[in-house]
Amino acid sequence: MPREQWSTRAGFLLAAIGSAIGLGNIWRYPYVAYENGGGAFLLPYFIALLTAGIPILILEYSLGHRFQGSAPRVFRSLSERWEWLGWWQVFVSFVIVSYYMVIIGWALSFTYFSFGTQWGADTESFFFGDFLGVTGDFWEMGGFQWKVLLPVVLVWAVVYVILLRGVRSGIERMAKVLMPVLILMMVAITIRAVTLPGAGEGLNVLLTPDFSSLFDERVWMAAYGQVFFSLSIGFGIMITYSSYLPKRSDLANSGLIAGLANGGFEFMAALGVFGALGFLAAQQGVGVDQVVDAGVALAFVIFPQIINQFPGLNSFFGVLFFGSLLFAGMTSAVSILEPAIAGVKEKFNLTRRAAVNWVCGPAFLFSLLYTTQGGIRYLDTVDRFINAYGVALAGLVELILVAWIARKLDEMREHINDISDVRVGRAWQLFLSVVTPVVLGAMAVFNLIQEWRTPYEGYPLSGLVTLGWGTVIAAILLAFTFQWVGWRQPLKQKEERG
Ligand code: ALA
Repeated sequence: MPREQWSTRAGFLLAAIGSAIGLGNIWRYPYVAYENGGGAFLLPYFIALLTAGIPILILEYSLGHRFQGSAPRVFRSLSERWEWLGWWQVFVSFVIVSYYMVIIGWALSFTYFSFGTQWGADTESFFFGDFLGVTGDFWEMGGFQWKVLLPVVLVWAVVYVILLRGVRSGIERMAKVLMPVLILMMVAITIRAVTLPGAGEGLNVLLTPDFSSLFDERVWMAAYGQVFFSLSIGFGIMITYSSYLPKRSDLANSGLIAGLANGGFEFMAALGVFGALGFLAAQQGVGVDQVVDAGVALAFVIFPQIINQFPGLNSFFGVLFFGSLLFAGMTSAVSILEPAIAGVKEKFNLTRRAAVNWVCGPAFLFSLLYTTQGGIRYLDTVDRFINAYGVALAGLVELILVAWIARKLDEMREHINDISDVRVGRAWQLFLSVVTPVVLGAMAVFNLIQEWRTPYEGYPLSGLVTLGWGTVIAAILLAFTFQWVGWRQPLKQKEERG
């Protein structure tokens, strides 16, 4: 069977940008930027984007395009013993998608709650109490929270159908419809938010640099972490997506466009979010720092408050905001599932339908854990650990393999330059072989030290060990197990593309 292909370059780019622009851009970026020095965060962020994000993005495009396969097959083509690295990325993505879908489910519910601002005046107890039904202790799982479970099932059903339809009529078509709508919605939100009374104060907080933060290693770690999550690199996604490109495809330029589009969107979303926070602070007569909240609460507690105060059309603004979160999340979720689908499809010689079932079935079952009353704590723990010791670490190992073990950087550079308008030079190689591995290595060490010193969020050790470390270790063990299982499909079918 010939490999599936994108129908146009624009289709590929929209799907790749759709993967990058996700929940990470709308709620994660603004609070990460705020917590890490506001305006001063921009410098480490841009350095991380230019020296690590975009170069790795271009590298992943070239790996998928040249070796024509999902991440396990690509890494196996580089060196037979390294297939596990591809499976590791697949399992990391699998873990992420199982909770990512639940947040999309929340966004769907809140799009509905926006009609008539059904969350009422006390948005905090609405979200944690009425909606999530959060229980007291870490291990007090409680039952399923039906209000959460039902929208999650609905979102799964839509994503499942899109994935069944395949690359061209599923993923590409969805990206072509949702991405332009999403961008228009976000532009509308930002313009409205920055023109609200008090918005200027919010923007000041976001943009005023605190230069001392540049000397804080945590700020740099946050910037690199954000760039990895946000660009969807180290997940095996970009390798898989670019394996569906036709032979003559511009790789370097596409990487630049996708990287800058994602960064631009992220920055625009941050302006919108902080403009709105400035407005809320002005309404309540307090400082902006009093209304900012980290993590999920920013979108699901603070935004409903902003929408309550909105001067007219507040239901409409709510639908715009939560609808953007929903669309951005959906185009990313299908991309996070695709590496696993392509991986098992190739390895076990399955039809697309069988591969989609084998991946979506177990991932759906896992997401049920997060729809319980204790779910948000499990989600928070798994998210923290899999991002710190999954995505960025898998990216580091990928660079060491390509640059130092398989020594393929020269070859990849030639491959890129043969078919791209923009050429990548020696600096690209230097970033990938030396600068970024050193930074990512240091990041892993700092993360470990921090973990040792302060248990994350004060959660019990039993929770951090089982759900945090347990998930990270399980992903690695499963990766080795999958490498060990034999291929059901002749590997020689077409491993390389010249
Ligand atoms: N890149 C995706 C996001 O930002 C995963 O949410």
